[in-house]
Amino acid sequence: WVLMVTAQTPTNIAVIKYWGKRDEKLILPINDSISVTLDPSHLCTTTSVAVSPDFTHDRMWLNGKEMSLSGGRYQNCLRELRARASEVEDEEKGIKITKKDWEKLHVHVASYNNFPTAAGLASSAAGFACLVFSLAKLMNVKEDQSKLSAIARQGSGSACRSLYGGFVKWIMGKEEDGSDSVAVQLADENHWDDLVIIIAVVSSRQKETSSTSGMLETVETSMLIQHRAKEVVPKRIIQMEEAIKNRDFPSFARLSCADSNQFHAVCLDTSPPIFYMNDTSHRIISCVEKWNRFEGTPQVAYTFDAGPNAVLISHNRKTAALLLQRLLFHFPPNSDTDLNSYVIGDKTI
Ligand code: DP6
Repeated sequence: WVLMVTAQTPTNIAVIKYWGKRDEKLILPINDSISVTLDPSHLCTTTSVAVSPDFTHDRMWLNGKEMSLSGGRYQNCLRELRARASEVEDEEKGIKITKKDWEKLHVHVASYNNFPTAAGLASSAAGFACLVFSLAKLMNVKEDQSKLSAIARQGSGSACRSLYGGFVKWIMGKEEDGSDSVAVQLADENHWDDLVIIIAVVSSRQKETSSTSGMLETVETSMLIQHRAKEVVPKRIIQMEEAIKNRDFPSFARLSCADSNQFHAVCLDTSPPIFYMNDTSHRIISCVEKWNRFEGTPQVAYTFDAGPNAVLISHNRKTAALLLQRLLFHFPPNSDTDLNSYVIGDKTI
C-alpha cells in the first residue's frame, strides 16, 4: 500500500526583511520580519508526500529531478515531524500505522514550483512550508500552526511565514532552543484585498550568492547590520504593524521601500560586497520613485529580495493597471532591459 497527501503553499514576500541569524543550525534570526503571503493560485509549490512499507529510504524530487536529502535542513524537519507523528488508520485500505512505525517507515517527497527556483522569489519559503504542512498531515501531527511554523523555520527561515495567509510576522524570539521563534498572522488575506502585487521577473537565473551564505557573510563582516537589527528594524516593525492594521498605504509603501533599500545596503556593506540587484532593478526603483514623487504620495511600493526581480505593490487595481502600462512601456519583456516577464494576479505577461 501507499498513503499519499498533496498540498499547495504560496510563497511570501517580506516587506520588513529577515537578514542575519543568531543560530545557524536552528535558524534563529537577529530581527523580527513581516511579510505578505501571495495568492495561492500563483507562485506556489505543490508537494506530494507518500509513505509505504516498500520504500527503502527517504527520497525527494524537486521539479522532477531527484535531490540529495543529506543536507541537514530536510533531516531536521523530518526528525521533528517523526517525533510528533501519531497513529494513522485507513480502514478502507486496511492501513494502520502506529506511532512507533513512523520511526522505521520512509517517505517519498515530490515538489513542483510554478516559478523560477532560487531566483530570489523565495522558493525555499514555499518549498519548506509545503513540505512540513503535507508531512504533518500525512503523519497526523497534532501540533498547532505556530508549532509547525517553528519546524518549517528549521528548513528555511522565511518558510515559517508561508504557513499563514495575509500579513505575517515572524517573531525572532529569545529562547536558545528557538521554541518562541514562530510566525503569527497579523491580518488575514481579506483584510486588505485592494492591494495588487506585480512581479517583474528581471532574471530567472540562479543567484550567485544564496541567502543562507549571503546573510552569514553579512553578519560576519558588516557593521551596518548590527545598527539595522537593533535600532532600525524594531521601530519599523511597530510602524509596519500599524500601517497594515490601518490599511495606510503611504506608510506601508515608505516602510517597504526603505527596508528593501537598507537590506541591499547591508549587502553592499558586506565584505566582499554582495550585489543582488542589477541595472534593470535600479531603473525600476527610479521609475517608481519618480512616479511617487510626482503624485506627492506613494502609489506603488517596491521590494527586492536576494535577487534582481522587482516585487511591486500597488494600492488598488486602477493604479496596478497604470503601473503595468508604464512598466511595459519602459521595460518591455525580452528587450535589452533583460526583463523576462511580468507576473500579475493569475496571469504572466
Ligand atoms: C531576502 O529564508 O531563504 O528573502 O533561512 O538561510 O533559508 P535561510 O534564508 P531564507 O532568506 C530569505 C531572505 C530574504 C528576506 C526575507 O524573506 O525575509
